[in-house]
Amino acid sequence: MAEKHDVVIIGAGAAGMMCAIEAGKRGRRVLVLDHAKAPGEKIRISGGGRCNFTNIHAGPKNFLSENPHFCKSALARYRPQDFVALVEQHGITWHEKTLGQLFCDHSAKDIIRMLLAEMQEAGVALRLATAISAIERVASGFRVTTDEGAVEAASLVVASGGKSIPKMGATGFAYRTAEQFGLPIVETRPALVPLTLDPAQLDKIGELAGVAADAEARCGKAAFREAVLLTHRGLSGPAILQISSYWREGAEIVLRLMPDIDIASILKGMRRTNGRQAAHTALADILPRRLAHFFAEEAKLAGRMLADLSDKAIDAVSASIQNWTLKPAGSEGYRTAEVTLGGVDTRALDSRTMQAREVPGLYFIGECVDVTGWLGGYNFQWAWASGFAAGQEV
Ligand code: FDA
Repeated sequence: MAEKHDVVIIGAGAAGMMCAIEAGKRGRRVLVLDHAKAPGEKIRISGGGRCNFTNIHAGPKNFLSENPHFCKSALARYRPQDFVALVEQHGITWHEKTLGQLFCDHSAKDIIRMLLAEMQEAGVALRLATAISAIERVASGFRVTTDEGAVEAASLVVASGGKSIPKMGATGFAYRTAEQFGLPIVETRPALVPLTLDPAQLDKIGELAGVAADAEARCGKAAFREAVLLTHRGLSGPAILQISSYWREGAEIVLRLMPDIDIASILKGMRRTNGRQAAHTALADILPRRLAHFFAEEAKLAGRMLADLSDKAIDAVSASIQNWTLKPAGSEGYRTAEVTLGGVDTRALDSRTMQAREVPGLYFIGECVDVTGWLGGYNFQWAWASGFAAGQEV
């Protein structure tokens, strides 16, 4: 005999817990299953342990999807202000770091505690360290077979996240379940991830590892203005993580270092006022020292005085700094990716409820859906909003 519930949710992450709370508040008997020993593990490690739980500017333009309209309904019905109100109701203090990104003042664990308290209040049952071996459709809805017996419910919500950070228990479970029920998948790939360079490029820029600079990173039409960090493996920092979601194998990344500065004009001014200054020293007034030396070497200006440089030479070195083109060899993959791009094809889901159009009672929410946010609290906002949407319907 299978144990009966109204709703079974697979995944006690951000989306699953939000869905459970909303469904529980509506009086539904909800069971959340997770194979991990603790709920909300990604919340715990997010935002450097302070959880960037939302972004006050979150809107459809901050998300990638084959159908950019899909996320609109859910995002409109559960807004960043709604989550902020919940956080404040629980006495959790927060601050805006930059670009609308809201973080806990103390710890990401405050968010997990808040969600667990809300779940308890709503009468939700949570079963951790539970392995799921099969899902099947039965007359009353769905049967989920676990290592502790079978459970049945009219509504089954898949909230098991994406493939990023397998070490933390991320699996392709949601995609396999979608395929089992005939739902299409948009090809998945690691996103918000550092990009790697090939050995020849690394040889050239290897000694820059650890240098960070303000930059605009561009790939095709997408551009992000934030810090870039050079590493032993290639490129990282927020601007690179952002652009990685748009990058594809074979494409180039163009970095405009110090994007607010007209480097050529500054160097020409310095040439007038201090012509005896060495070019690499002058560049070090504009750029981090190691980068200044690198670009001076590349342009064969090291040791030359500014007064000896033609306009053409100054223009060329400035262009090399503000149009620095690199061709990544790949990415660091799911091992370090913050999210998974692609996922359950939104054409198969109802955008208001997250329910599979052809499989009544089956829902997909959170990161496993083909809706991927930028870096900066957008992915949690999608988890809350899609969880909320399904929570009103299951
Ligand atoms: P999530 O991955 O959170 O939860 C899925 C749950 O399902 C997990 O508890 C997992 O154990 C469980 N599960 C998986 N497979 C299962 C199976 N087969 N059986 C049973 N259970 C299973 N975003 C943001 O907005 N702000 C931020 O600050 C950060 N920071 C950040 C840092 C790092 C290091 C990472 C890796 C990611 C972020 N993110 C982020 C992204 C954010 O963590 C992510 O988008 C959400 O956690 C997605 O929420 P979900 O609930 O969809 O999946």
